[in-house]
Amino acid sequence: MPSWKCQQCGFEEDLYSRYYWKCPRCGSPLTLLYSVSGEITGSKNTWRRYSGFLPFIPEKYRGEGLTPVVAEKTGTHSLLFKLDYLNPGGSFKDRGTALAIYYGFKMGFKKCVVDTSGNTGISVTLYSKLYGLDSVIVMPREAPEGKKKAIRQLGGLVIETEGRIGATKTVQDYISEPGYYYVAHLWNHIYIVGHATIAYEVYEDVGVPDYVIAPVGSGGLLLGLVYGFEKLRETGRASKVPRVIAVQGYSVQPVYVAMYGEALHSEPSTLADGIMVSNPPRLAEIVSAIKRTGGEVVLVGNSEIARAHKALWEWGFTVEPTSATVLAAYEKISKKIPENSSVLLVLTGSGLKTL
Ligand SMILES: Cc1ncc(COP(=O)(O)O)c(C=O)c1O
Ligand SMILES: [Zn+2]
Repeated sequence: MPSWKCQQCGFEEDLYSRYYWKCPRCGSPLTLLYSVSGEITGSKNTWRRYSGFLPFIPEKYRGEGLTPVVAEKTGTHSLLFKLDYLNPGGSFKDRGTALAIYYGFKMGFKKCVVDTSGNTGISVTLYSKLYGLDSVIVMPREAPEGKKKAIRQLGGLVIETEGRIGATKTVQDYISEPGYYYVAHLWNHIYIVGHATIAYEVYEDVGVPDYVIAPVGSGGLLLGLVYGFEKLRETGRASKVPRVIAVQGYSVQPVYVAMYGEALHSEPSTLADGIMVSNPPRLAEIVSAIKRTGGEVVLVGNSEIARAHKALWEWGFTVEPTSATVLAAYEKISKKIPENSSVLLVLTGSGLKTL
């Protein structure tokens, strides 16, 4: 039976416990422990296909996951674009959310709440509808209008707040009432095991790449990628884990500061609204994961993001600006990457809602 464990103080609880995100003893994020067989089936349903890597399988499926990898050769490297913006809710978040909302449903909740820059809100509303939960989506007022519209169209209630601090307080008010499932995507380890399916798919499609470049806000994507590639190695399927390049913007750079001890100032990076998380709960885990892979953190700014965004659309990758940070980062560090390396760029969110 899977269980929740605090890696800091040893607190442990059953899977279907009310302590599923934050340790009630010491406040650290909890980790989901379960056995991984490493079996991959022939199913065309992502969850059934990778059930050997998952703690449970959701009942409903809307085509999340199993997104294509498209290869483009530059003069020196093989660039592998993982088209995760093609998920049903327009972002990779559907991978974690499909599991997290099913979990809330199994716990018996009828209502859920989440604080988000937008993509998690779309995803949470989409899957909540499937399981009959009402969703309250708390977002900063300055979040892209298209993301708010998508949430309303799906039937979610959007509550706008002044920045992330206002959002945290509003969420507290909701979860202090009984009956609300706090999706807690910045904390909830279910997101990490869900996002790890990207690694299993890449492994099946093109093998393990030499480098992975991923945008980092809460770090759920990055931790999922590292978790997935490490599980592939632990189960004997792969012999290496890619070097992970974490991308943040100059405006909000907690991972950079934690890695290198001081901030690097330049132009703002406000175009990357999806990665403006100033205090990620799993910061120490993110730094440790990057170091374990021999990776690094690269910072980008608005002019670099805008240039990369334009280039991606011209190549037919209709992503949102946050996703373009990976190409901007690649352009900055490509000279440091050895010739003939394969480099995976995770394209995380659709640009059709940010036009
Ligand atoms: C488009 C996009 N890319 C990347 C991220 C960063 O993901 P994470 O919070 O898992 O680090 C987000 C987060 O909202 C996002 O919306
Ligand atoms: Zn603890």
